[in-house]
Amino acid sequence: MSETTCQKNRRILVIDDNRAIHDDFRKILCPPDLTDNNLESFERVLFDKTARVPDPIHFDIDCAFQGQAGVEMARQALAAGKPYATAFIDVRMPPGWDGVEAVAKIWEVDPDLQVVICSAYSDYSWNDMLATVGHSDRLVILKKPFDPIEAQQLAQALTEKWRLLQESKNKLNDLEKIVGARTAELQAEIAERKQLEAQFRQAQKMEAFGQLAGGVAHDFNNLLAVIMGFANLLRDTEELGAEAREQIEQVHLAGERAANLTRQLLTFSRKRDMQVRSLNLNDVIGDMAKMLVRLIGEDIKLERKFSPNLPRVQADHSMMEQVLMNLVVNARDAMPKGGQLTISTDAVVMESSHTPGQSEARAGDFVCLSVRDTGCGMTPEVQARIFEPFFTTKGVGKGTGLGLATV
Ligand SMILES: Nc1ncnc2c1ncn2[C@@H]1O[C@H](COP(=O)(O)OP(=O)(O)OP(=O)(O)O)[C@@H](O)[C@H]1O
Ligand SMILES: [Mg+2]
Repeated sequence: MSETTCQKNRRILVIDDNRAIHDDFRKILCPPDLTDNNLESFERVLFDKTARVPDPIHFDIDCAFQGQAGVEMARQALAAGKPYATAFIDVRMPPGWDGVEAVAKIWEVDPDLQVVICSAYSDYSWNDMLATVGHSDRLVILKKPFDPIEAQQLAQALTEKWRLLQESKNKLNDLEKIVGARTAELQAEIAERKQLEAQFRQAQKMEAFGQLAGGVAHDFNNLLAVIMGFANLLRDTEELGAEAREQIEQVHLAGERAANLTRQLLTFSRKRDMQVRSLNLNDVIGDMAKMLVRLIGEDIKLERKFSPNLPRVQADHSMMEQVLMNLVVNARDAMPKGGQLTISTDAVVMESSHTPGQSEARAGDFVCLSVRDTGCGMTPEVQARIFEPFFTTKGVGKGTGLGLATV
């Protein structure tokens, strides 16, 4: 409810089965206006009576003869955004509800309504009333017969109490909104910080892991050179029997696979010398096309969607090839029964709003290389782990799980 409605609300509901009582309340709570042409104002002007009594407060009065009708009026008033502040309710109102029942019902509709029960004490004891409506600070008893000033004072005090109640509710609402908005902001900040921390920890882990893997791969490469060298020498020995030659061939093949793996490890740990130069990705992919077609086999259709006038990128040529190869092999493995592979390039502008919480991402002009397949796709669990080194769903010897970790 708006503040202005709160301040101006002098609406009073009278529920009484007696028309004369309605008229009495009207006389007491909305006395006729003292306009300039009435006697009192003449008197003030003529006899200089400046210390005048303040005008009585005028209330807007609506009346009902029965509890049911009164409750309906309270409901409609509330729905129209013009609730009553106070109600004066008679106790005996045959044939309908009595006043105490009417109070209980009216609070179901409008719980903030301040109520004055007008009772001759013989009707109901205070305890009887409490038993029906419970303890409430919204209920006052006005004993009949009452003095008009009592009704006036109650009307003033209770409409003011109603206004203060609405004001505090409004303030509480505003406060809740502010607290809610600030809580949401804090939650978002905490979530972002947690994400950054997780990224930082992951980056540290990767760095440590990369150093370890790189070091091992380096030494391993030297050992492999020895193994492969002697395997080659043995292979060339003429007096070698067929069976031994076949065995040496296996050693050689395994050595080559191991060399391949160390190459990947070195790439992953960035220990290989990077030769960054200006490249046109369309050309890089175009040059690999024949090889890629052979790699994916006949059942997969390759489509290229190259953006013309693609800006050049600064990258290592063979690393780009390796990254693309891995993406294409991944796509092939995801489509064992064939499908469509689409490689596209695009010039994109990254806004900072596209990269929230991504510590390595930055805004600017970029080239986007996409590899899309129509294969089996990934479950969310797999998706969450694809950049982990050695994470693979492929069988032993089929995938090392370093392909995407290298990207
Ligand atoms: N196009 C794809 N469709 C479905 N799953 C994929 C796709 N690309 C990657 N994956 C999933 O991500 C995992 C990790 O891929 P990644 O390229 O890093 O390793 P790998 O292909 O298993 O092994 P490697 O590339 O080292 O030979 C894969 O094992 C697969 O489960
Ligand atoms: Mg792979």
